[in-house]
Amino acid sequence: MAPWPAPPPPPPPPPPLAAPPPPGASAKGPPARKLLFMCTLSLSVTYLCYSLLGGSGSLQFPLALQEPPGAAAEPPPSPPPPSLPPPPVRLGAPSQPPAPPPPDNASRGEPPEPPEQPAAPGADGWGLASGGGGARDAWLRTPLAPGEMITAQSALLEREAQESSTTDEELAGRRAANGSSERGGAAGTPDYGEKKLPQALIIGVKKGGTRALLEAIRVHPDVRAVGVEPHFFDRNYEKGLEWYRNVMPKTLDGQVTMEKTPSYFVTNEAPKRIHAMAKDIKLIVVVRNPVTRAISDYTQTLSKKPEIPTFEVLAFKNRTLGLIDASWSAIRIGIYALHLENWLQYFPLSQILFVSGERLIVDPAGEMAKVQDFLGLKRVVTEKHFYFNKTKGFPCLKKPEDSGAPRCLGKSKGRTHPRIDPDVIHRLQKFYRPFNMMFYQMTGQDFQWEREEGDK
Ligand code: A3P
Repeated sequence: MAPWPAPPPPPPPPPPLAAPPPPGASAKGPPARKLLFMCTLSLSVTYLCYSLLGGSGSLQFPLALQEPPGAAAEPPPSPPPPSLPPPPVRLGAPSQPPAPPPPDNASRGEPPEPPEQPAAPGADGWGLASGGGGARDAWLRTPLAPGEMITAQSALLEREAQESSTTDEELAGRRAANGSSERGGAAGTPDYGEKKLPQALIIGVKKGGTRALLEAIRVHPDVRAVGVEPHFFDRNYEKGLEWYRNVMPKTLDGQVTMEKTPSYFVTNEAPKRIHAMAKDIKLIVVVRNPVTRAISDYTQTLSKKPEIPTFEVLAFKNRTLGLIDASWSAIRIGIYALHLENWLQYFPLSQILFVSGERLIVDPAGEMAKVQDFLGLKRVVTEKHFYFNKTKGFPCLKKPEDSGAPRCLGKSKGRTHPRIDPDVIHRLQKFYRPFNMMFYQMTGQDFQWEREEGDK
């Protein structure tokens, strides 16, 4: 981790690879369509190379790196290799979303991916770090009787908070520290107004730093966010928009309603569903080096299922051949370019903010400035709200007016990762490189993950 509090030098300006469309421009307009066309072609070449080279022991993607995007000579999309889910190639107007990805891991007799643990209001959030592991409950999928849904939703979400791992002690700690039940921002926005559908969503990525971002933005008095992950657009969609609205906190006019559910970013149906609800919604994605993200994801699973195979075993279809198993969700989630392509069918780039998970740790105020600008908010959350907690090893929020206990995220955030074979890390870096390049092209931002070596 970079030293604290001195922020690292600002990254060089992003290469002029793909200029985002002007605000309000449609993703389906000519420039966006051209961009998508170019990206899709390049991704297809990447897949083709992966298909051709994957079995030879090499996982390099020379063509994808050398060919300019949209080169006319590129072949038509090729079928993906068996270990990769097919890319959602859709160049026209929004159409039926592709079939959901195959069930992860189960077919290989490997442990299923544990769902992202839900967070209670304040739970797993900036609180007095404590809490332990525990299995996730099954209640979330228990259907409610009609009519029960809305009245019961708060209780259910509260129950989720209580039953979810690592959260209840943190929740108790935070409530004790705050001397109150959870409210909106740390500024203590009063709980009155109207419940509204969100105008902004943190849609991903899992283990990117989404909780840190949500808790920091909640400090803003003009932001009201639900602390739990509602999982509306993936798991609870059938409950309807009224259910979703009722999950939200009350807001006053001018306040922004938000929620975060990191699994949306990799849910095929999510962009279409979100677009149907609010086509002008603002979307935030916290991205992190996909190799580190994969290890973080694995570490979370390991904390709940210590018996799972090693990361090195799970990462490969065939280690001798060097064939990465991109059907493992820990790997697949990090192929950001593929997931983003799905979102760009429905939303222009100007409606999506990409936050660097790395910079959120070394310069939280800098990233928060971008977030507040994007949301059209005054820059209220600044350096003065953060301090670096040496024990935690991460930035934490100061209490307002320096009163009470500082607030660090719980121990499920900032876990120590197991040591991973450097050769495996190196192979994963090579695997992700072309996808990262494509992601930089699509977003017009260089996240510089190629400069990083290894894991923390
Ligand atoms: P690790 O636990 O692997 O370190 P998410 O909230 O999306 O699940 O992301 C969790 C990650 O947020 C953590 O991954 C950690 O690196 C990162 N993070 C960013 N800012 C943090 C902060 N202030 N405190 C703790 N973790 C933070």
